[in-house]
Amino acid sequence: MSYDQTATAEVLSAPTKTVASVALSSNKKVDWIEQLPSERFAQRHLGPTDKDVEKMLSVLGFDSVEGLISAAVPAGIRLNKALNVDAALSETEALKKIAAIASKNQVCRSYIGLGYHSCITPPVIQRNILENPGWYTQYTPYQPEISQGRLEALLNYQTMVSDLTGLEIANASLLDEGTAAAEAMSMSFGVCKNKDAKQAKKFWVSAACHPQTIEVIRTRSQPLNIEVVIGNHQDADAFAQQGPFFGALLQYPATDGAIFDYTDFVEQAHTTGTIVTVAADLLSLTLLKAPGEFGADIAVGNTQRFGVPLGYGGPHAAYFATKQEYARKLPGRLVGLSKDAKGAPALRLALQTREQHIRRDSATSNICTAQVLLAIIASTYAVYHGPSGVKAIAHRVHSLTTALADGLKKLGYTLGEAPVFDTLTVQTGGRTEEILGRSLTRKVNLRIGEETIGISLNETTGIEQLEELLEIFAGDKPAPSVASLRPQPLPERFKRTSDYLTHPVFNQYHSETELLRYLYSLQKKDLSLADAMIPLGSCTMKLNATAEMVPITWPEFGQIHPFAPIEQTQGYQILFKQLEDWLAEITGFAGISLQPNAGSQGEYTGLLVIRAYHEAREETHRTICLIPQSAHGTNPASAVMAGMKVVAVKCDEAGNIDVADLSAKAQKHSENLAALMVTYPSTHGVFEESIKSVCEIVHTHGGQVYMDGANMNAQVGLCSPGDIGADVCHLNLHKTFCIPHGGGGPGVGPIGVAAHLVPFLPGHSLISCNKNEQAIGAVASAPWGSASILPISWMYIQMMGAKGLKQASELSILSANYIAKRLEGHYDILYKGENGLVAHECIVDLREFKKTAQVNVDDVAKRLIDYGFHPPTMSWPVAGTIMVEPTESEALPELDRFCEAMIAIRQEIQQIESEKITVEESPLHYAPHTAADLVGEWSRAYSREAAVFPTQWTRDRKFWPSVNRIDQAYGDRNLICTCPSMDEFDE
Ligand SMILES: Cc1ncc(COP(=O)(O)O)c(C=O)c1O
Repeated sequence: MSYDQTATAEVLSAPTKTVASVALSSNKKVDWIEQLPSERFAQRHLGPTDKDVEKMLSVLGFDSVEGLISAAVPAGIRLNKALNVDAALSETEALKKIAAIASKNQVCRSYIGLGYHSCITPPVIQRNILENPGWYTQYTPYQPEISQGRLEALLNYQTMVSDLTGLEIANASLLDEGTAAAEAMSMSFGVCKNKDAKQAKKFWVSAACHPQTIEVIRTRSQPLNIEVVIGNHQDADAFAQQGPFFGALLQYPATDGAIFDYTDFVEQAHTTGTIVTVAADLLSLTLLKAPGEFGADIAVGNTQRFGVPLGYGGPHAAYFATKQEYARKLPGRLVGLSKDAKGAPALRLALQTREQHIRRDSATSNICTAQVLLAIIASTYAVYHGPSGVKAIAHRVHSLTTALADGLKKLGYTLGEAPVFDTLTVQTGGRTEEILGRSLTRKVNLRIGEETIGISLNETTGIEQLEELLEIFAGDKPAPSVASLRPQPLPERFKRTSDYLTHPVFNQYHSETELLRYLYSLQKKDLSLADAMIPLGSCTMKLNATAEMVPITWPEFGQIHPFAPIEQTQGYQILFKQLEDWLAEITGFAGISLQPNAGSQGEYTGLLVIRAYHEAREETHRTICLIPQSAHGTNPASAVMAGMKVVAVKCDEAGNIDVADLSAKAQKHSENLAALMVTYPSTHGVFEESIKSVCEIVHTHGGQVYMDGANMNAQVGLCSPGDIGADVCHLNLHKTFCIPHGGGGPGVGPIGVAAHLVPFLPGHSLISCNKNEQAIGAVASAPWGSASILPISWMYIQMMGAKGLKQASELSILSANYIAKRLEGHYDILYKGENGLVAHECIVDLREFKKTAQVNVDDVAKRLIDYGFHPPTMSWPVAGTIMVEPTESEALPELDRFCEAMIAIRQEIQQIESEKITVEESPLHYAPHTAADLVGEWSRAYSREAAVFPTQWTRDRKFWPSVNRIDQAYGDRNLICTCPSMDEFDE
C-alpha cells in the first residue's frame, strides 16, 4: 500500500487539531456542559431506547444485555477485549474529519479514459435518486408488487442497452466492465457449439482491449483452465492458426481510440463457431454502427459516463447484452414483463432458474448483488436527455476530439490514421515528460504510454478545456486557436443509421418538472426503509444514516479517475488504510483487500487466495471445497468459478453443520481438501457451538476455512472470524457496515485474511494496491473496487466507536430474539441455539399451514404487504419458511407492529383452519390489495377495511402496492425484457 504516512498522521489527528476549536469536541470537555443530542450518534443509529431494551429483556427473561449475549453467543468464541477502533465522534466531528481526509485528494481534469470518463450528473438525478433514501434504501426487487418503480427504471435500462448495442436482450447490470467481459467469456464457453473449440478451451482477446479488462480476464480464466490468447484482429491468419476459439473479445472503439470495422473479423470468427463479444463505449454507440449490427453475439461495457460520478473506480453499472436465443444463459438479474392477478401488466425478475441461487454449483456466474442504483441513474440520464440529447452529447465530444486532433497535427504531432470517437493517441516523439510536466501543473491528467499520450474527451470538455490541452501540447509554441480548428465527420461506413431510444419513456420527460414527477411516481411504488422496516434475513437492512451518505457526492471523492496518479489520491489512501485497519481489527485478521465489489466477489477472491496459497505450497491438487447444504447459492457458484469441486456437507436436525458428516468428508478428501465455506452465525440464524472444532477439523486435513461474513452483524465486537479460526472472510459492507442496498446494489465485499494469506491478496497492474509478487491478479476493474462508497462504512465505524459497534451487534441479537419470543405460541421458530436463543435473525416455519389451511409462504408474505411491511426472506435457507432479521436500527414500536401483523395473519390462517372462511375467499389469497381493488362492487367474504386497513397504523401510514399478486410463470413463458409497446401490453 502506497500512501503518505505524514499526511496520514496529520489527518488522523484531525479531531484534536482541526476540531479543537469546537467547544464540545471529544477531547475538550467541561463537567457542567451537557452533551448535545447530536454528539451521540450511536443513539440515533440504535432503534430501541434504554427503556425499550429493559422491556425487551424482561419479555425474554433476562436482567441484562450481557446476560442475553452470554447465553446466545458460545463462551468459547467470545472476544475478551474491547475493539481497538477510534473513539466515537459525533456526526459533525466525523464529517469534519472526513472532509480533512477528502481534502488530501486532488480533483484534476481527467482525460485518462480507459472506460472511465468525467460526466455531468444532472442535479435533478443527483438529488432525487443518488441522494434520496426513497431510492437508495430499497432492497433487491424480489417482492415485485412493492418494487414496480425500480423494476420500471431497470426495464428502461435494459431497453437503453438493448437499443444502443443493437442486441435483443440486456440484463439489469453487472459489476464492472472487466468482470462483465469475464462473464461473457464464461457464457461464450457455455453457448459455443464447436466441440473442438470447447475442447481446446481457448479464448481470444484483442490486444486493443483496455488493459484492466485483459487483466481481469486473465485472472478469471486461470482457475477455469482457459487459455487466453492476445492477438490483433487484423491478423486473420494468426487467428485461424491459433484457434479454434470458443470466444473472442474486441474493444469498440479500441483502447487507443481507433474505430475499426469488425465485420470481417466477426464473420471469420463465426465460421468456427466462435462467440464474439464486443466491449463497447455506450455513448459512442449513439453515433457508431451497433455491435449487433455487425454480428456481435454479446456486448458488454460500462455505463458510468451516463451521469454516474467517476468515484475513483466505482460503483458503476456494467451492461451485458446478447441475442434472444441466449436469454437463458445470460448472467445476472433480468427484469421482465408479466401480469398480475387481474391481468394488468406488471414487472418482476425473470428467469430466476438461471441464477446461482437455484443452479448452485452448476451455475457459471455467482453474481447476486449488482449495481441497481447506478443502472437506474444511467437509464434516467437517457430518459432525461432523450435520444437527441445523448446524441448531441456524443456529437459534441466527437467534434471536440477531431478538432483537437486537427490542432495537435498543426502543432506537428503524429496521430493514428484510424477514425476516432473521443480518444486520441498522440506520438510524443520523446516529449512525454515535458508534456506531462505541463499537464500536471495545470491539474490535467492524461494517459501516459511509453512514447505516446492518450487523451479522452468527455461531456465536461468545452472550449476552455480544449485551449488548455492545446497549450499543454504546444509548450513554447503558440497554440492554434480553437476557432481555427476543423472537426471531422465520422466516415459514412461507421455511422449508425438505425434509431434508438424510440420508446415513449425516452421521449417525454425532458423538462425537470416532468422528470421530477416521473421519478416520484416511480419511487411511490416502491417500499424502502423510508416507509417501513425491511426485515430480510441475511440481508441486514439497517439504517443508512444521512451523515454517512453525505461525503459520497463530494467532488474530492466523486470526481477522481481510478487510474489517477497515486500522489493525487492521498485522501483515499488514508481512508483505505484506516478502514482496512478497522476491518482487520473487527474481523481479527492481518490483512484486508477492498477490491471485491460485492459479497459474491469477496467469496470468489477469497477462494482464489486460498488456491494461490495451496499452489505456492505445491499442493495444486487441493481442489475440494466442502460446503454445508444450507449455504447461500453464491458459495457453491464461487467455488466452481475458483476451480474447485463442491462436496456438500449435511446439516443436522437443529440446523447445525453435521460435524460427523464434516469429519467423514474431510477425512475422505484429506489429500485434496482445499477449503470449507461456512457462514457464521449459520444461515439458519444460530451461533453454532461447534464452530471452533469445525475449523480445527478442516485445518487438520490441510484445508483452509472460508467464512461467509454475510451474518457479521451478529459478530462485531462480540467475536471475530479470525479468532474463531477462519483463514479468510468476506464482509458485506452493504449489510453490516451501512452501505445502502440501492435496490440491488451497489455492494462492497472486502475480504480479510490471516497473515499467511496476506501475500496473495489481489493486485492491480495499473495502480499497485498489493506489491507482493505472489498477489493474485485483479479480480475487478478498479484497484479498490467501489471506492467512492467506502466513506459510508468509514463514517459508520467512526461515529459508532468500539462501544457503539458492539451495542449494534447486541441489539440486533436482542431484537431478533424479542421477535422470536413474541411470535412463540403463534408460529414455530425453526432453529435455536443450545440455550433456546437465536442469533440476529430467526426462521419462522410456515410449512404446517400448507397442510392445515392450504396457505403457503407467498400468501403470508404478500399479506404482510397489506400490513405495511416488506416481507422477510422467503424460502431460504429452508423452503416454506420466512427468515426475519430486524437489525439494531428498528425501534420497539416498529418491532411490535411487525409482531402484531404476524399474529393477526396467524389469526387469519386460523379462520381458514376453523372453516370460517375458505382459503380461496380469504384476504391471504387475494393479498396484496391495491387501491384499485376498492373501486366498484365488493363481493368478497371480508370487508374492504380488512383488506387494506387491517390495523389502525395502516390507516395512519398506508403503503399502497401498485399491482396485485404477480404471475411469475406467465412472464417466463412470454419473455419480454425491454419496454413493451402498447400492443404488447394488450396481448
Ligand atoms: C449468506 C450470504 N452469502 C453471500 C451473499 C452474496 O452477497 P452479495 O449479494 O453481496 O454478492 C449473500 C447475499 O445476500 C448472503 O446472504
